[in-house]
Amino acid sequence: MKLVTFAIDGVEVKARPGANLLWTALDNGFYIPNLCAMRGANPPFASCRLCLVEIAGRSAPVTACTETIHDGMAVHLNTPRTQRLRNTAFELLLSHHDLDCRNCAKNRNCELQDISSRLGLKLKLRRLRHIPLELPVDSSHPLFIYDPNKCVLCGRCVWVCHEQGTGVLDFAFRGIDTLVTTLAGTPLADAGCNSCLACVAVCPVGALVAKPGVSLDEAKAAVAHLI
Ligand code: FES
Repeated sequence: MKLVTFAIDGVEVKARPGANLLWTALDNGFYIPNLCAMRGANPPFASCRLCLVEIAGRSAPVTACTETIHDGMAVHLNTPRTQRLRNTAFELLLSHHDLDCRNCAKNRNCELQDISSRLGLKLKLRRLRHIPLELPVDSSHPLFIYDPNKCVLCGRCVWVCHEQGTGVLDFAFRGIDTLVTTLAGTPLADAGCNSCLACVAVCPVGALVAKPGVSLDEAKAAVAHLI
């Protein structure tokens, strides 16, 4: 297949025509923050708005996870506009997130923490107010715990749960009330979960965590190609 040539921050990159910009950039060593993207998810959710980039000739920044590559394209990763919008998107995520990192099972293994340190952004709210959710934690399942107060609504668990053929998890409600939950909020132990743990393996934060002593190795290996 004939490859196309495009540029990221002035560096020439070759790719399949129509390849996805986010994955191509990451696979070529360029860092674009992302939280909701999954390699198999088509169309992408594009919900976190962290992967904003600028493309020469476009009037506004675009999400890299929804962009396909074409010949001669010039992509700019860290312009003042992308930085400003990305910082706001990051703070919006934090405004709904329980930021008790020290007591979180994913502390030091959390993608929000990783993005914060890569971009030099503090895990603190500066301009926005924290909106505590105070939702009940579901620890009914024998293998894992779901804490919706830590969910960043990335949709990865919803997508992978549907991919597994169970579709136990889904979005409910709208706007500020949007939530990942089971049908009618049924406890996970009674919701028809097949215990594959794929949702736990793809969760970027501490919303879905394995119970002590439960190994995620098999589930992580099964979904490694998706993240
Ligand atoms: S990774 Fe593109 S919007 Fe989340």
